[in-house]
Amino acid sequence: MEGRHQARIMNWDDLFSPKWRGEANTDIAEVMRLSEMEGVTSFAGGFPAADMFRLPEVREVTDRILAEKGAQALQYGPTAGFAALREYLAQRMLDRFGVKTAPEEVVITTGALQGLDLLCRVLVEPGDTVITEAPSYMGALQTFATYRAHIEEIPMDEAGLQVDLLAERLAELKKRGIRPKFIYTIPTFQNPSGTTLNASRRQLLVDLASAYGVPLVEDAAYAELRFAGEGEQALKALDRTGGVIFLGTFSKILSPGLRLGWVVAPRALAEKLIAVKQTNDQCSGSLSQLVALECGRRGIIDRQIENSRVLLKDKAAAMMAALERHFPAGSRWVEPQGGFFTWVTLPAAAGLDTSRLLKQAVVEEKVAYVSGRSFYAHGQGSNQLRLCFSYPQTAEIAAGIERLGRFFRTQLEKNAPAR
Ligand SMILES: Cc1ncc(COP(=O)(O)O)c(C=O)c1O
Repeated sequence: MEGRHQARIMNWDDLFSPKWRGEANTDIAEVMRLSEMEGVTSFAGGFPAADMFRLPEVREVTDRILAEKGAQALQYGPTAGFAALREYLAQRMLDRFGVKTAPEEVVITTGALQGLDLLCRVLVEPGDTVITEAPSYMGALQTFATYRAHIEEIPMDEAGLQVDLLAERLAELKKRGIRPKFIYTIPTFQNPSGTTLNASRRQLLVDLASAYGVPLVEDAAYAELRFAGEGEQALKALDRTGGVIFLGTFSKILSPGLRLGWVVAPRALAEKLIAVKQTNDQCSGSLSQLVALECGRRGIIDRQIENSRVLLKDKAAAMMAALERHFPAGSRWVEPQGGFFTWVTLPAAAGLDTSRLLKQAVVEEKVAYVSGRSFYAHGQGSNQLRLCFSYPQTAEIAAGIERLGRFFRTQLEKNAPAR
């Protein structure tokens, strides 16, 4: 009949863009969900512990901001971030990382993850090559996959990214006419492995990337959270040719709930990042920015860092001791000098898959971890797992690791070849 149309159930599958057809990767969401289940000791999410937050001080700062600058705090702000926060961060980059930068080179982002996303928007076309450490941060791998980058993985050892292998790979790629868009690295207290790139490799890495004309993206999410050993220089501090991009975040030193990070990039790139941020979220939260700035100025961030280091040191020690006692013979793990994580490699056994076992560990043993496979682009890591020691209470760690150790021992016995 004219003017009448048959209503139909919407078919979404045909509408999804090709990159979102099929199963969406929901690993991060799954980690968040597992971490929040009642009664579960979570070694999964890379969260700061609740007692790291300086709630009374942050509340006082927030109240004062709302009282004195309420209209600004509730309003949109400039896309690049408030000038005062960019100035503060330029100074902090010098004080904390020995990096000389101008406020115009600092772009405020909605978390470091947005910084990565903006970089991909500006630099990556489908099929472009991006180089990562293997293993690497799951959120970064998922971001690169979203932009349909081809990921080249470079193995790590106990001293971080294997720069000699990177040199070989860069030479190989060059022979094939491929110039990677960037090398993504977390040189200090890496997520997930907990390793730190040693001093000699740092300079080599910066020089190598520069020689090939490939930018280095330095993700410094955990860099200020050292609890043992000597400090290393930021890659950005070694950069003489403008090829290093620095990603910072307030998530691990103040609050992930503020959703605030920053990118330090050469001016030409910073301007492009600001242009794409304009249509992404227009600006990061004004209230968050004012709170972070005030917490920085008043030393709240530095006090939180000092206190977090003490707590992390205790927690890491508790985890190392428990792994030693309870994990299956032949397991290996990283002894971190800072950050939130250690990385465990179980004895390789046919059929052992930490990814498949995760749900069972949560249901039967009430312990959550993140399986190794989540941290590789090409499916390795079935006998590996990441353990976060930051989030659980120190007292919970030993019991949780005991249950997890028993769980894996049982699984390994099941998978042992019959004699
Ligand atoms: C290495 C690394 N980079 C970036 C992020 C994202 O941080 P943000 O909360 O600032 O988006 C994380 C969070 O876990 C991380 O581990």
